Amino acid sequence: MTAPLKPMHLKCEHRSDPLGVDNLQPRLSWALEGEGRSRRQAEYRILVSSRRGSLSDHQGDLWDSGRISADHSLDIVYAGQPLASAERAWWRVCVWDESGRPEWSDTAYWEMGLLEPTDWEASWLTGPLVSESGASAPGRKTVLEERSWLRTSIGSSPVHYLRNEFDIDRPVRRARVYASARGLYRLSINGEAADDRVFAPGWTDYHQRIEYQIYDITDRLYEGGNAIGVMLTEGWYAGYVGFTPRRHGAHYGARSSFLGQIVLDFEDGGQQVIGTDERWRISLGPVEYSDMLMGERYDARRELGGWLNHAYDDSCWPAAVEGWRTEAKLVAERAQAMKIIEEIRPNTVTRLGSGACLFDLGQNMVGRIKLRVQGKAGSVIRIRHGEMLTDEQQLYTANLRTARAEDVYVLKGGGIETYEPTFTYHGFRYVEVTGLQEEPDLETVTGRVLMSATPRTGNFECSDQQVTQLYENILWGQKGNFISVPTDCPQRDERMGWTGDAQIFFATAAYNMDIAAFISKWMIDIEDAQRPDGAFTDIAPLILFENGGAPGWADAGIIIPWSMYVFYGDRSIIQRHWKAMTAFMEGVARQNPGFLRRHKLNLNFGDWLSIDADTPKDLLATAYYAYCARLMADMARAIGRVREAEQYSALRSDIKDAFVSEFVAEDGAIAGDTQTAYALSLAYDLVPEKLQAACARKLVENIAARGGCLSCGFHGTRWLAPVLTRFGYSDVAYQLVLSEEYPSWGFSIKHGATTIWERWDGWTPEHGFQEQMNSFNHYAFGSIGQWLYGDLAGIKPDSARPGFKHILIAPQIRDGIEWCRAAFRSPRGMISVSWVQSRERIGLDLEIPPNTTAAITLPVNSSGQVTEGQRPLAETDGIDEIHVEEAGVIVTAGSGRYSFEISRE
Ligand code: BGC
Repeated sequence: MTAPLKPMHLKCEHRSDPLGVDNLQPRLSWALEGEGRSRRQAEYRILVSSRRGSLSDHQGDLWDSGRISADHSLDIVYAGQPLASAERAWWRVCVWDESGRPEWSDTAYWEMGLLEPTDWEASWLTGPLVSESGASAPGRKTVLEERSWLRTSIGSSPVHYLRNEFDIDRPVRRARVYASARGLYRLSINGEAADDRVFAPGWTDYHQRIEYQIYDITDRLYEGGNAIGVMLTEGWYAGYVGFTPRRHGAHYGARSSFLGQIVLDFEDGGQQVIGTDERWRISLGPVEYSDMLMGERYDARRELGGWLNHAYDDSCWPAAVEGWRTEAKLVAERAQAMKIIEEIRPNTVTRLGSGACLFDLGQNMVGRIKLRVQGKAGSVIRIRHGEMLTDEQQLYTANLRTARAEDVYVLKGGGIETYEPTFTYHGFRYVEVTGLQEEPDLETVTGRVLMSATPRTGNFECSDQQVTQLYENILWGQKGNFISVPTDCPQRDERMGWTGDAQIFFATAAYNMDIAAFISKWMIDIEDAQRPDGAFTDIAPLILFENGGAPGWADAGIIIPWSMYVFYGDRSIIQRHWKAMTAFMEGVARQNPGFLRRHKLNLNFGDWLSIDADTPKDLLATAYYAYCARLMADMARAIGRVREAEQYSALRSDIKDAFVSEFVAEDGAIAGDTQTAYALSLAYDLVPEKLQAACARKLVENIAARGGCLSCGFHGTRWLAPVLTRFGYSDVAYQLVLSEEYPSWGFSIKHGATTIWERWDGWTPEHGFQEQMNSFNHYAFGSIGQWLYGDLAGIKPDSARPGFKHILIAPQIRDGIEWCRAAFRSPRGMISVSWVQSRERIGLDLEIPPNTTAAITLPVNSSGQVTEGQRPLAETDGIDEIHVEEAGVIVTAGSGRYSFEISRE
């Protein structure tokens, strides 16, 4: 007898135990674990309580959903008592399985944010004595003024240090800090960092919305004196961002400021709030500047001793002054914090002719290094970063453009010193260190990898080394670019939330990691950036550009909510952005009355970075328009907007008609005759059924005519292998991923790539480095990850039953790869596929989570060739239906572990 099903991985608003939820009706979810076949959730009951203890007595004073007879486990809307600011809600769920046996989950919680502006008893603080223009108030001079604003060598403001002390005279029941900045801040309590996050409060459109963080400091306080300290710098708010040399007010504002309050709840029921005000002190310190693009300069001789501790003498620190207010909304942080997620040791260190030392970390990574050195006080160490080496084995930095990406450390002397910058990050594999006084070793530098700490959910591996390396490169692209927002690249003066790149990469990213909270937050950035005419934009948060976005970029505003729905079963995101999405669609329709999308295409990038294969831009634009109309129809249906679903279906069919008459020839050829034109037309179902096979054949011919190579840019690449597979050409998809000829992924790997290159021709033996725009860590072409998980291993969501309620399993087993394994922790539980083939047989092991079903395509012609645990397929427990189709034998299975033995004879 198997154990009852256990509800696990409880989440609120897509996060485990979030501190700071603004949504008054937060959404709850869980996954299920349990052995055995065809396990189901028959009923559930959610209890929410303000007291943890009462949940063990099965009482929920905030909400008792009662027993609900349903198999839902995602996106369940809290419908209990109204929740107050800062309220902690404890919750559990009980699930009754298919035999009616109940099992309770462990206890989880969420905590509400500050819901009213009046909950804040704090003022924005900034440095004293300096007016907006940078000029000082007459007649006063302080340490701050000596190294005043705008005077550091990179033209940025110095990092500021803020501190305050407070006394506690009675037992504290709970203590929180609520904090944010226009700029970046790092918070410490009684001598230590409040937590391990970096780059708080993250990037949003600070004119509209600023996130704040909540820190639980209950266990960090002493009776008596306590100290709070804050480092503050410019970051995305006032530092260098993007490719414009303009700073100071260009994007958001000229000067950083900090806002925070400590809220102490005492055992005796009293409360005390200590907010930022003019009693806080401010100073400069060892970090002279710290900028995302430029790097950091740290002078250890200027360290401030025990400034983070109580009873520090700050009498020479001036008082901080109140900064200007903001109209922007303060909102609780919505996604996982950015953190250091791993460390890398260098493989080698070599001395260059110049005397500098060059460390090779063996992996193109994103973050910074920790340095370990010894030397004389005042000696200067320079740390430069690069992704590649030149032919002369020197650091290649041309592709950084104006991003200096240099950290400088000035020693204090007297023993071993360690240093890691605070508010900067770089994209690099190689580190050049100048000024070392001692012979370095591999301990001198350590790579510290940072990203938004989205939990890992996927793994992939196969018998082909190059394809496994390709997978690793894709993963590293995600690690390096999911930094508060999904960025295009991590190294040059760009690093922005390009919408096209992210929509293309979404599925791959969602297999690799749980990106639900991260992307939900970014979708709000997309809506914040929406133009008055309804257009979504090329980047979000929006800087530098005024206009709406290009086809394939702007459309992310539709594709992202849809993708969230498919992967996470999230209907709420559709509801939240419905108005914005319809405004976008109406805008496109207004500007393009004839259904072909030819107007208002803005920067109209087309199939960006294709190789000698320009896809007609109006074709690409119209294909995306049709795709968006279809997604709108499906999303309307998903949220019960029946009439709109019909309207969007009608719109889609009008666009399709226009597309066919304009771009599709009678022999199935598509205008432009590019791989991308074929891939997009087929992927978005814009080819009449009777021409589809001919059209797919033309795609295959096109690849053959190019010597078996691809030629697609960003948009075509995403669909190329999936479309080939869908139309029966997995062998051609195999050929593309196994190739090492230029252009291919394998070509970059053959030449040492450990991340995905921005362009197929980033470096070639004939031409060396591309001179234009040349990132070696751009995830867009990594969209092939979707095919690795979805087709090669064969795990796909079914949009008709989203959130992996129903799973499509159809591994593509062809010559060239002997075995393949993938595991994916879906929102409903673990899914895994592992296959191994020989000439005679295929072994296929699967894991399907409880409360889901799967359609499994077994690659044989007759069910007689398949057994499961020695039994014929028809007698296999857990398998309901068996159909024989062209693609193979398709069975419907309930949850469980299966081990199929398939004979090829
Ligand atoms: C970025 C891209 C982006 C593109 C728009 C580039 O500068 O790095 O990845 O999508 O511009 O075409």
